Amino acid sequence: MATGDSLDELMVCRLQSRSGTVTPCSIVIFGASGDLTSRKLIPALYHLALDGLLPEPVRIIGVARREKTDDSWRAELFEALKAHSRTQPVDAARWERFAANVHYCRGDLTDPATYRRLGERLASFEDPRLQKNLLLYLAVPPSQFGGITEQLAAAGLLQREPEEPHWQRLVVEKPFGHDLASARALNDELLRHAHEHQVFRIDHYLGKETVQNILMFRFSNAIFEELWTRQSIDHVQITVSEKQGVGSRGGYYEEAGALRDMVQNHLLQVLALVAMEPPVALEAEAIRDEKVKLLRSVRPFDPVRVRECAVRGQYFAGQVDGETVPGYRQEPKVRPDSNVETFVALRLLIDNWRWSGVPFYLRTGKRLPLSASEVRVQFRPTPHVLFAAQCGTRLDANAITLRLQPQEGISLRFNGKVPGVSTEVRPVRMHFRYDTEFGAYTPEAYERLLLEAIEGDPTLFLRRDEVETAWQIVDPIRAGWGDAPLTNREFYAAGTWGPVAAEDLLARSGHAWRNPTPNA
Ligand code: BG6
Repeated sequence: MATGDSLDELMVCRLQSRSGTVTPCSIVIFGASGDLTSRKLIPALYHLALDGLLPEPVRIIGVARREKTDDSWRAELFEALKAHSRTQPVDAARWERFAANVHYCRGDLTDPATYRRLGERLASFEDPRLQKNLLLYLAVPPSQFGGITEQLAAAGLLQREPEEPHWQRLVVEKPFGHDLASARALNDELLRHAHEHQVFRIDHYLGKETVQNILMFRFSNAIFEELWTRQSIDHVQITVSEKQGVGSRGGYYEEAGALRDMVQNHLLQVLALVAMEPPVALEAEAIRDEKVKLLRSVRPFDPVRVRECAVRGQYFAGQVDGETVPGYRQEPKVRPDSNVETFVALRLLIDNWRWSGVPFYLRTGKRLPLSASEVRVQFRPTPHVLFAAQCGTRLDANAITLRLQPQEGISLRFNGKVPGVSTEVRPVRMHFRYDTEFGAYTPEAYERLLLEAIEGDPTLFLRRDEVETAWQIVDPIRAGWGDAPLTNREFYAAGTWGPVAAEDLLARSGHAWRNPTPNA
């Protein structure tokens, strides 16, 4: 802080929205041999332990089919941690302390004997809280959710009414179904043996600091929230671009495509936070009620006219960072004539009082020129008098950009006079960067999410109706695209900002995409 600011004290307000209680528990990970466990879950738990945020005592048990001992699994996890840890180098002594609480339980997830063995392992812990407070993390494909919960319930490890004060919670990963019908069926399966409040559905975008900041930014600043309406805002662009291709995930991606992989969850979640009404309280249900209400206000896509407002695209070979990369159809496990979309752009309308008539443009794609996620709120142009009368569309309209990643920050773009004797106006930027203000601090989304699940706070997790409403939005788009082969206007070269059809989508309303820049 500059000395002149000393009267302008920085006031910090700590919110009491979290339950704040981490009770001793066992964290059981089903699908322990998978990538998610070694790349995300264990590194996240390790960092929580380093920060003293994990309960004391705690046990972590991995369940999977392969033959391993506690020690061999720990050694494997240590290697993975060294490769994926956000803090380097990994301290072997601290890892040893953490790993002493990590155990492995071998077994087929369809076999009741596995759950008996798991029960025996849990019973061997002396503290009853380690036996009965269970975070049951299903890091497995959704087709296994039903079977696992069934078995857990039969073994007495998952109870709808656990004896007080104990708790059992299920954490599930996306993809949560592949359409509305399958999501409903999955929900029914999970809720046969658990209450809704015991089910924590992950969308890792909600664990990102900057995504959480959207609500703070909107509802703790009077100056912006005043402007957050159709009266001031011309349109909103939400971009989640990725430089990477599908890599080794071709098999999964052939079933999912960008619409199911990114739009149904991450993009619609960001949209909900950007556009929802203020919640009545900073509580999970109040916030989730508002998000659902917003998603319900999205004007349904008409499958017959879907191409007018929903564009898909697929990359072909091109150059990314000066290197030639293959097209989607040449990626491993991808059909050579695949029509699966690696890019989606939507024009979406929200039929409510605040947003009526304001287009929201959403786009996401793989093999775009850079990896960046941002929300650009574009304000209306000034009236066509004074400067605008002379400059016309060359007079830039104001914009607020919320940069979600990387170079997290918020910038405000407005016009200023270029110094000098001539009268020139050009956009200038006021910029806030997280790292400049708060120092480099980028916890992984999974750290926050795991902690919240241990605390039992569902705010950052998706409620049943949220997931189902999101499918209701995207299902008609998929139906409208049908099996029609992609056209030339839908292909894009890797390393470009998507297909021509996506440009047309905005041009029809007199708009143009504003692409993220490397240095936000
Ligand atoms: C995942 C998708 O949910 O999100 C991936 O399955 C995508 O395809 C990833 O790459 C993007 O997440 P992040 O945190 O890297 O923006």
